[in-house]
Amino acid sequence: MINYTYIFHGTAFSSYSPEKVNILENHLFFINDNGIIEKIVGPEQEDYTSLLSKHQDDANFHQLEDGQYFLPGFVDLHVHAPQWAQSGTALDLPLYDWLHTYTFPLEAKYADLAFAKTVYEDLVSTLLANGTTTVLYFATVHKEASLLLAEICARKGQRGLVGKVVMDDPDQNPDYYRDADSKTAIKDTEEFILAMKELAKEVKQGVYPVVTPRFIPSCSDEALKGLGELAAKYDTHIQSHCSESDWAHQYVKDRFQKNDAFALHDFGLLGDKSVMAHSNFLDDRDAELFASTGTAISHCPLSNAYFANSVLPLKRFQAMGIDIGLGTDISAGATPSIYDNAKQAVVSSRMLEDGVSTALCAAERGVADSRISIHEAFYLATAGGGESLSLPIGKLEENYTWDVQIIDTKIASAKLPIFDAHEALDDIFQKIIYLVRPENIKEVWVQGERVHSRV
Ligand code: GUN
Ligand code: FE
Repeated sequence: MINYTYIFHGTAFSSYSPEKVNILENHLFFINDNGIIEKIVGPEQEDYTSLLSKHQDDANFHQLEDGQYFLPGFVDLHVHAPQWAQSGTALDLPLYDWLHTYTFPLEAKYADLAFAKTVYEDLVSTLLANGTTTVLYFATVHKEASLLLAEICARKGQRGLVGKVVMDDPDQNPDYYRDADSKTAIKDTEEFILAMKELAKEVKQGVYPVVTPRFIPSCSDEALKGLGELAAKYDTHIQSHCSESDWAHQYVKDRFQKNDAFALHDFGLLGDKSVMAHSNFLDDRDAELFASTGTAISHCPLSNAYFANSVLPLKRFQAMGIDIGLGTDISAGATPSIYDNAKQAVVSSRMLEDGVSTALCAAERGVADSRISIHEAFYLATAGGGESLSLPIGKLEENYTWDVQIIDTKIASAKLPIFDAHEALDDIFQKIIYLVRPENIKEVWVQGERVHSRV
């Protein structure tokens, strides 16, 4: 007896390892009441034909049409929710100037809950419409507005991991936008964690509190220490920025005479439920520390091109055993799309491998064995994100959540260039990742619930 609420039938793409995308052609997916994949049955299995004929006329049987495919929902490991309001602007300044000129004044506005509601409603809907089903969010320093973001995720059906941002150092942050002091920062974070745990009791797909020191330069020692203790006390996820740019990396070295990774570790901020954005400038010892503590990296390739002036040595860090997923880093990355970032991850890795070679600097060479394929980028967008968060998401596999995007390659307004009725499914997969637009994302499901559909 299979315990199920819905049955889906169609062809799916899902990665179980970084190099290979598995093609589940015409498979049956049984989804239970908790939104978990209870059983997957393929045509090569004995009971497939009998199950198909028994159920195909059931009211809860969903058959994909010709040209439609399942993909796992994407995981975005790094979004600054308040920055959605400035997405696409101000991408030409260095990080420090950008924070102080544009970003802090914008984030300060989220003391106003009406403004927060308008932006956050729009952002969560936009991310869902782009196929993103789980998001690791930075909110702002405001406890109430951060909780509001989680409530919006809860209501719209997105799995949201949300952090109230901590930035208490009066020398590094403007008076108009920071925690009053380290004590207040810790107290507000603890109250936020408790409120999130209450909210989570009612939310099928899960919402999670995240301990969120913005980055070491913005926090006092007392705040960093207190946050490490809170994360241990409540067993929460942790997020921050680590070794993003030359400037941020050097700042931590000057302050602690050690690298960002080791400083974060001293404050109890690395571990299996920690995700550090960027981490471009980790050296080998830092990377070994990430691997040994289970700390993951959110790779933000578009943002890195603008603000970090850097490319993550992704292959090297993956080979060292670090979990890595993708992040848009809205708004340092201007797009809400993980598709765009998967493509950029490929491009950046190719440029790292090939190096710069022009008439002006013909002698420059790249870093061998750096390139990744679009298949590997897809792994980062799905399974890699799930592993980074230590959640059973990102794969279409038994005991994983039914978080899917239903892709329609034949929709009139955004038809993909598929002209051969017998085109290889792997080619179709590549066309999907390179060419899909939100118009092609027909439905999005999270934990067995439909949370978005295009009409
Ligand atoms: N470092 C500290 N804050 C931020 C931020 O908001 N965006 C990016 N990209 N880096 C940061
Ligand atoms: Fe960021």
